[in-house]
Amino acid sequence: MYNESVMEVFRNPKNVGEIENPSGVGTVGNASCGDIMQISLKIENDIIVDAKFKTFGCAAAIATSSTATEMIKGLSVDEALKITNKKVVEVLGGLPAQKLHCSVLAEEAIQKAIEDYRSKQK
Ligand code: FES
Repeated sequence: MYNESVMEVFRNPKNVGEIENPSGVGTVGNASCGDIMQISLKIENDIIVDAKFKTFGCAAAIATSSTATEMIKGLSVDEALKITNKKVVEVLGGLPAQKLHCSVLAEEAIQKAIEDYRSKQK
């Protein structure tokens, strides 16, 4: 059902956990399954220097969050906002259609964490 690269990331996810004194935190729930995702970011001069995630979610949510947090590290916040769940799924080589909704969690949590960071800047 999952391809080998999704399984590999699911078995060895990166960036699991929580950043101490984060610059921004985003928590979102998935309306279709009730699962939850939290992403915390460390941002310096508008560049994401670290990203971590915690989730109560399935293998697809874990694999896409691990991949998304890897993809945004080193990007500016504006660039990170352009990382869509579709791009993350492409990097993973695809997800079963009924699991695509799980990949939205990471995208939304990143957006919320950046909103949180920006609201603290004001
Ligand atoms: Fe809920 Fe995948 S089934 S995140």
